[in-house]
Amino acid sequence: MKLLKDYLKVKEHQVTPESVFWKRREFIRQFALSSVVLASGSSLAFTEKTTSKYAGLELKNELSSEYVVTHHNNFYEFSTDKERPAELAKNFNPGSDWSVNIGGEVELAGKFGLEDLLKWTSQEERIYRLRCVEAWSMVVPWRGFSLKSLIDKVKPTSKAKYVAFKTLHDPNVFPGQKRGTFGMHTLPWPYEEGLTIDEATNPLTFMATGVYGKDLPGQNGAPLRLVVPWKYGFKSIKSIVSIEFTEEQPVSTWNERASSEYGFYANVNPKVDHPRWSQATERRITDETLFGVKRIPTQMFNGYGDLVAPIYKGLNLKKYF
Ligand code: MTE
Repeated sequence: MKLLKDYLKVKEHQVTPESVFWKRREFIRQFALSSVVLASGSSLAFTEKTTSKYAGLELKNELSSEYVVTHHNNFYEFSTDKERPAELAKNFNPGSDWSVNIGGEVELAGKFGLEDLLKWTSQEERIYRLRCVEAWSMVVPWRGFSLKSLIDKVKPTSKAKYVAFKTLHDPNVFPGQKRGTFGMHTLPWPYEEGLTIDEATNPLTFMATGVYGKDLPGQNGAPLRLVVPWKYGFKSIKSIVSIEFTEEQPVSTWNERASSEYGFYANVNPKVDHPRWSQATERRITDETLFGVKRIPTQMFNGYGDLVAPIYKGLNLKKYF
């Protein structure tokens, strides 16, 4: 079986310890910048600064350690506990033997192997802040492809206003999906999420297949998960098996569970508090002490406002939280 990282256009070693991760990143950066310059010709819109912002290079000294990224997780299909998913996901290694149903308002509908998706797109590495609605955050080096590059390939029709995603629903794989596991706290399965088409085609919106230079481990949403860095983490749905283009606003699982607490948009916003806690600051988790963390101010759109604020021009962000 081919590992997902075999599809990286820039080859890497089997395992990437943190110490060599940065050497390789520098190479990829040079590579990415030169290919962007070639692709964009004289376009001023795609300056080196913008490219570096998409790639998240300004965050390289703030990375959360590989251990915390892979051992402090929210993945309710495994457990509501933060550390249990790493343990429970040990035997969940779907690799490239995985398929995704693409359907709805789209020209190229069908069931596609993850390998097809990887052939259609180019994998790259991006460092993004991840801000959970629970007010903790991390800085994560992902590997994957832009959702826009996939959308360009499958060609949504003019009726497509939203993109809906679903996680695998299989209680044999995910113990948390067994009836009654969490009693009253259970979620309606499968986990579902959605974006407007403008959000989905924003160049920041990413489909991750790896983290820290390795294929995604189960607890981080193997083998394919969404990453929407300007939104609360619950939008970044894991282990995706379905992508559907719709006319109507899709279901968002947490919004369905408690609509007064979790909105469909879920843009990171320090001025709009969760009904039960403030969103003005966040606990930045950087290493395995987990508790030796800094509380820092939360940024509007998680610091990505210059790239995404135009999407929401004229929208009342208090009402559409
Ligand atoms: N996707 C699924 N299918 N199930 C989940 O429980 N949790 C979400 C999101 N995606 C979740 C999910 C939440 S609340 C967060 S903060 C992020 O995943 C956490 O991603 P991480 O564990 O890789 O840090």
